[in-house]
Amino acid sequence: MPFAITQNCCADATCVSVCPVNCIHPTPDEPDFGTTEMLYVDPKSCIDCGACADACPVDAIFPIQALVGPERAYAEINASWFDTVTPGAPAPTRELVTPAPRADRPTFHDWNKPTFDRVLPPDFPTLRVAVVGTGPSGMYAVEDLLLHTDAEITLFDRLDVPDGLVRFGVAPDHPATKQVAHNFSRLRKHPRVQQRFGVEIGRDITHAQLAADFDAVIYAVGAHADKRLGIPGEELAGSVSATRFVAWYNGHPEVPADEFRLDSERVVVVGNGNVALDVSRILVSDPDSLAETSIAPHALAALRASAVREVVVLGRRGPEDAAYTRPEALALGHLPSADLVVDDHDPRIGAAIDAAGPKEHASVLAEVRREAIDWSAPPPAGRRIVLRFHSSPLAVEGEGTAAALRVTGGSGDLSLPATRVMRAIGYRGDAVPGLPFDEASGTVANTTGRVADMPGTYVVGWIKRGPSGGIGTNRRCSAETVACLLDDVVAGVVQPAPRKRRRFRSAFAG
Ligand SMILES: Cc1cc2nc3c(=O)[nH]c(=O)nc-3n(C[C@H](O)[C@H](O)[C@H](O)COP(=O)(O)OP(=O)(O)OC[C@H]3O[C@@H](n4cnc5c(N)ncnc54)[C@H](O)[C@@H]3O)c2cc1C
Ligand SMILES: NC(=O)c1ccc[n+]([C@@H]2O[C@H](COP(=O)([O-])OP(=O)(O)OC[C@H]3O[C@@H](n4cnc5c(N)ncnc54)[C@H](OP(=O)(O)O)[C@@H]3O)[C@@H](O)[C@H]2O)c1
Ligand code: SF4
Ligand code: SF4
Repeated sequence: MPFAITQNCCADATCVSVCPVNCIHPTPDEPDFGTTEMLYVDPKSCIDCGACADACPVDAIFPIQALVGPERAYAEINASWFDTVTPGAPAPTRELVTPAPRADRPTFHDWNKPTFDRVLPPDFPTLRVAVVGTGPSGMYAVEDLLLHTDAEITLFDRLDVPDGLVRFGVAPDHPATKQVAHNFSRLRKHPRVQQRFGVEIGRDITHAQLAADFDAVIYAVGAHADKRLGIPGEELAGSVSATRFVAWYNGHPEVPADEFRLDSERVVVVGNGNVALDVSRILVSDPDSLAETSIAPHALAALRASAVREVVVLGRRGPEDAAYTRPEALALGHLPSADLVVDDHDPRIGAAIDAAGPKEHASVLAEVRREAIDWSAPPPAGRRIVLRFHSSPLAVEGEGTAAALRVTGGSGDLSLPATRVMRAIGYRGDAVPGLPFDEASGTVANTTGRVADMPGTYVVGWIKRGPSGGIGTNRRCSAETVACLLDDVVAGVVQPAPRKRRRFRSAFAG
């Protein structure tokens, strides 16, 4: 009985390297890899060995017969990916390949046999790299350096705890996804890794100080600010950002426990990405189902006392263009605590859902009830999430505090009464003092990870390419940057920092 990959997959491709028959696709060298929502097992080739399930950091792989409830759909979702081949892409390989001997397969756990496949100049002393940020992109950079060089690495984070958005972003009802942090913690314990928490580069020490003490510096500082709607009333009390709300329910030390009161019957969430779905799901979840998770105690208490009965998820485009991934939307339809409804206010919505082929985005809503909603009435009994497409926010209305969100609609503009409006329209990177910043994209100016005009300084993750992509996306992104760094060492662009300087290290020795 073959295995199948399910909802939690973050596309980091760990399973690809352990599969003896190459039946997990797309692989990192196939064109679809950069855009795929998840990876898929070809049931016709899978030999049921279980190696992928053992290797998966987020417990996303199961034998098909072990799938229960909504997860059963993943048997078909995996198989159907192999039904057609993406135009222009090579066909997924189905031949049996000889498994490589275990020692030659670099995996997360092969610490005793690192493949120092990057030969650095013999006169270069042991490479010393500072990695700023302990989220996924920083940790994948560390992994790559440890596996392919004998570099010594010092990790920095401005917070007292590691893991970036894995800890303070990923929703608490995705505990398996948060497990990826176990792999990161193993990397941090490696003898060639030192760590300094509570040190913010740009505040506690400057980039120039860091650059003088290390041969190379990799910034993995993420994108923590939030985008603004730029509409009237956005500053009213009650108009909030999902960025803060997410940090609040995950117990971020910089968000006060009493920042959010859940006293609104209806919350309008603007945006159609996975963050919009995360916050909507948490808002209507049964608090008991969250009690055993990592949710902050103050958030759990607020959810227990919550007045929220309806969350309206507002997409400015149609269901075919939603930014959320299909596994997350599918899961929304199976919440035990809330109904899912599509607001049928525009004929384009039903048409797009009905016309969608099985692999197309809008098809995930095929089974979801559609109804024309009377927005002048209070939300009905029970809890529900309403997906409203083709509707842009125009203004937050209210005197001092939000009372409604004015939006566009097929038959004219209207006001959705709500005292809480939450924008989930994307994150944004902050400038790093001392590094060139591209205001338009909110990223440090770089080419494939090399910071512009600053040899020896590199970026990875969201601060490199902008705030998009799941955890696994950062793995390839970091590998690209580390490859550039090592090329620069070989080319003499990166020069060894003076070894006699120990002032910095002793000043921050933990
Ligand atoms: C709400 C939310 C939920 C998500 N859920 C999922 C999910 O379920 N599955 C999935 O695959 N992906 C998910 N993602 C995407 C995933 O979290 C990102 O792809 C990933 O975290 C980006 O990694 P990063 O290393 O670039 O940034 P981050 O994870 O943000 O890490 C940046 C780190 O840098 C530190 N830092 C920042 N500035 C400084 C400084 N000046 N000095 C020192 N340290 C600094 C920060 O404290 C932080 O630890 C989610 C994203 C969000 C926003
Ligand atoms: N479970 C998971 O795997 C998970 C969970 C959370 C986050 N993530 C990942 O993290 C990344 C960030 O997610 P995100 O949700 O913050 O961002 P996102 O995927 O970029 O989605 C942003 C959404 O906001 C909309 N939007 C932007 N500006 C708007 C405006 N002015 N008015 C109305 N709508 C507007 C966008 O619509 P348009 O498309 O029309 O621009 C889009 O629907 C994504 O790659 C996501 O997949 C993954
Ligand atoms: S999370 Fe990684 S290892 Fe797990 S199924 Fe997805 S790609 Fe494979
Ligand atoms: S069970 Fe074995 S053969 Fe099947 S996908 Fe996983 S690693 Fe490959």
